[in-house]
Amino acid sequence: MNKLFEEEIRFNLASRPNWEQGARHREKVTGYLTGLAADRNGRLCVLGAGNSNDLDLKQLLQVYSEIHLVDLDESALEYGVESQAVSDDPRVFRYVRDITGVGQELAACEAAGVQPETDLSEIIQRFSQPAALDLPDPFDVVCSTCVLSQLILQTVNAVGDTHPQFEELMVAIRSQHFQTIVEFINDGGAGFVVSDFVSSESATDMKEVPDFQFTQYLSQLLSSRNFFHGVHPGILFSQLKGNTPLAALVQNVKMLPPWRWDLGSRQYAVAAIQFHRLPRH
Ligand SMILES: C[S@@+](CC[C@H](N)C(=O)[O-])C[C@H]1O[C@@H](n2cnc3c(N)ncnc32)[C@H](O)[C@@H]1O
Repeated sequence: MNKLFEEEIRFNLASRPNWEQGARHREKVTGYLTGLAADRNGRLCVLGAGNSNDLDLKQLLQVYSEIHLVDLDESALEYGVESQAVSDDPRVFRYVRDITGVGQELAACEAAGVQPETDLSEIIQRFSQPAALDLPDPFDVVCSTCVLSQLILQTVNAVGDTHPQFEELMVAIRSQHFQTIVEFINDGGAGFVVSDFVSSESATDMKEVPDFQFTQYLSQLLSSRNFFHGVHPGILFSQLKGNTPLAALVQNVKMLPPWRWDLGSRQYAVAAIQFHRLPRH
């Protein structure tokens, strides 16, 4: 079994009882997704759905005709639909997929023990294209929920963040993830990227900061470089804005105010970006 994926499955198992604590985060994610449902007939795809603790599936089924949940962890997907009593609903679909398509190669790097002189060019090249996921895309709305930080963490665990090509690899993973999202969206459809970017593990006073000071507090953390590898909200925004190939494919790119994701013992700060896909020519 892929050791990096085993770690994800362990985390999902441990975070299952967090339905109550995660209520605020779930309300935010579900609320924005509800707002993006243009009519009541759209199809929603969620990448990194896991336990679906951040999705109120019944509420979303009131505004989407179908919900497609994608994750590498089959048991988490099953838990999510069962705990929310929608496992028999024919409008909810589950797919066990590695959304990068490169997870096995990364795990092989981890198993082999990468040296600083190990050349990672081949694996970086693999990230230059979205993976063939065999999903019924395009969808009207595509959401990525706190999966990007995990993809990058898997890379840190696989090759180490001091490898001379680590930065290049991380940039390739991030860019592949955004490409996957944009590619999966129907003409005129919407994308919604949610990413945790720092936690109370390194920002130890996060839980005590009052809500009205939260945004300012996060700016200070970012200025002092206290954030997870590769998911600075400004860098995420820049994937879709400015002079990038993806920016030419999207419009109405909007950074939303950050919020907290409570996981009981730990709290995360979350950034979110929404946008629309321009028609293909
Ligand atoms: C932090 S969790 C997201 C939380 C989840 N949405 C919830 O509320 O239960 C990240 C999810 O990404 C999934 N994941 C990580 N790497 C993945 C990959 N390469 N392909 C598909 N899913 C992946 C994990 O299994 C996990 O369920």
